[in-house]
Amino acid sequence: MDAREMKVKAAEAALAHVEDGMRLGIGTGSTAEEFVRLLAEKVHGGIRVEGVPTSERTARLCVELGIPLKSLEELPELDLTIDGADELDANLTLIKGGGGALLREKIVAAASGQMIVIADETKLVDTLGRFPLPIEVNPFGLAATRIAIERAAEKLGLSGDLKLRMSGNDNFMTDGGHYILDASFGRIPDAEALSGELNSIPGVVEHGLFIHMASFAIIAGPAGARTLKAK
Ligand code: 5RP
Repeated sequence: MDAREMKVKAAEAALAHVEDGMRLGIGTGSTAEEFVRLLAEKVHGGIRVEGVPTSERTARLCVELGIPLKSLEELPELDLTIDGADELDANLTLIKGGGGALLREKIVAAASGQMIVIADETKLVDTLGRFPLPIEVNPFGLAATRIAIERAAEKLGLSGDLKLRMSGNDNFMTDGGHYILDASFGRIPDAEALSGELNSIPGVVEHGLFIHMASFAIIAGPAGARTLKAK
C-alpha cells in the first residue's frame, strides 16, 4: 500500500462518522483532500452536510466538487471536524500547519464538538518535534518575534533553526496574511509548556501544537485503518 492509499483508507474510515445533517469542519492537506473527494461522492449520493473549510485551498476543492459550504460566521458551532496532521503522539497531541493553515484549522477545530485526525502511520511518533513546528507570526516585528521565540524555547532547553517559510522567491503568506516560522527543535518533550510560552509572545499569532483537541485519530497502515484514543 503506498502513501496515498493509506491516506484514502484513513479518510474512508473517517467518512463512516459523518451523519446526515452534520455541520462539518473540513481540514487542509493531502489527507484531508482525500476525505473531501469521498465526502463529495456521499453528497452526490444524497447525504446533506454543510462544510466550513479550514483554508482557501480546501474551499476551492469543495466548490469544485459540489460540497455545500458555509463560513464559520454563518455556522459558528460545528458537529465534527476532520483534518490531517503532520505528527501526532500517543496522547493525541498534534503538530499541524505543514500546509500553512494552522490558524483556521485550530479555530475550526475549537468550534467543533469533535475532531477526528486522519493520518498514515508514518505520522505517529514517540516524541513530537521531528517535523519542524510551524509558528504563525505577524509580519510586523518579525525580527523581534524571532528573538522572543528563541528565548522562550531556550527556557525549556530547546533550540534550533527558525526558518521563515518561503513560496518561491516570496515569503509564504497564510490565508490570514501572516508569515510562518518553521522551528526545528528536534524534540518537544513538553508540548504544553512550549505552547504556553509561545502563546505569551505578542507577535505569535498561533502555533501548530494542537493539545487536547483531537477526540480520536484514525491511523492507516498497510494492514488497514485503526482508531487511536488518547492514552
Ligand atoms: C495543514 C495541515 C495538514 O493537516 C498537515 O500538513 C498534514 O498534511 P498532509 O495530509 O498533506 O500530510 O496541518 O496546515
